[in-house]
Amino acid sequence: MRNDQSRGTVPGIMGTDVLDILKRELPETMVILTTAYGSEETAIKALRLGVNDYIINKRPFDADEVREVVKRAVTEAHLRRENLRLQREVEFKNEQLRQNFTELQVAYERLKELDKAKASFFSMVSHDLRHPIAVAKGYLELIRTGDAPLDADTRGYIGVAEQEMRYIAEMVDDVLDLSRMDAGYYHVDCQPLAVSSLLHQARLAFRAHAAQRDIALTIEPCEDLPLVSADSLRMGQVMSNLIENALKFTPQGGQIALGARRVPDGVEVIVRDNGVGIEPGEHEKIFDRFYRIKHGEQLEDKGSGLGLAICREIVRLHNGRIWAEGEIGKGSAFHVILRTVDE
Ligand SMILES: Nc1ncnc2c1ncn2[C@@H]1O[C@H](COP(=O)(O)OP(=O)(O)O)[C@@H](O)[C@H]1O
Ligand SMILES: [Mg+2]
Repeated sequence: MRNDQSRGTVPGIMGTDVLDILKRELPETMVILTTAYGSEETAIKALRLGVNDYIINKRPFDADEVREVVKRAVTEAHLRRENLRLQREVEFKNEQLRQNFTELQVAYERLKELDKAKASFFSMVSHDLRHPIAVAKGYLELIRTGDAPLDADTRGYIGVAEQEMRYIAEMVDDVLDLSRMDAGYYHVDCQPLAVSSLLHQARLAFRAHAAQRDIALTIEPCEDLPLVSADSLRMGQVMSNLIENALKFTPQGGQIALGARRVPDGVEVIVRDNGVGIEPGEHEKIFDRFYRIKHGEQLEDKGSGLGLAICREIVRLHNGRIWAEGEIGKGSAFHVILRTVDE
């Protein structure tokens, strides 16, 4: 670049302008200032402006010096490029490390959760299974060792033992279902299904149980709905789990309503109760395995905390959605969306 204003080889543009453009457009360009008129001071000013080297006051130019300056500039350019490459490599590696670290953190959190689930599983097995086994064993022993005929008390003992056995069997079924799901052996066989028949069958299955607890189990009138694509047995299991929960967490004299309606992404099934309700902060967590909320003394408090986890998995296998709504003291509603046949 010539910094000779009076004899500029590029008319209308000054050396400093060219320097500006170069630094802006091609920042990696090495710029050497050559001028026969400038002083050491001009050179220093130019260096401040971003020139990389200079040759001044040589007329004619000393070829060796030019060669030397150009060589220096080339070497520096190489070094700069190498430096930049290394810097980028370090940044890239850093970013990779950051990503790996985040992935590790996520995996670690997941492991911790699984570990917690495993711990609660073992405490569940040791407490929730041992207790009913001990109760049932105790009553059966009493019946065996007592020489009383089958009187009302004895029938009562057998009834309790039976109930405890049923509870254990249900829990074992839940654990087995979940492990089948984890292993990928649990499948759904989707067929066209009328949601109204799903609701009626569920009501039929729990009518007696609800009546025993003086709970009204009703079906809300719903418009004509399209058929959904669902496995009636599996969805029956989802309905059972939801209604069992509603019965468990609704005090005597309460209400449970089953309903359905058309929504943009399918048909929505709703199981609504006016029981104890669930705090919004817990709406997601209750679908986690073994997660249970302590609701207070007045309610039957038995369960593995697996029911909703199983529901979520079954609904997922249907490509549907399930979620909870409601508030403490205002009851709960469980919503399930199923795809219609033609979707
Ligand atoms: N209808 C409901 N009303 C209030 N709480 C509920 C209801 N359904 C589920 N829950 C809460 O969610 C928890 C998890 O439910 P679930 O997975 O079925 O386990 P379990 O019935 O064995 O306790 C329950 O322990 C309860 O705290
Ligand atoms: Mg349950």
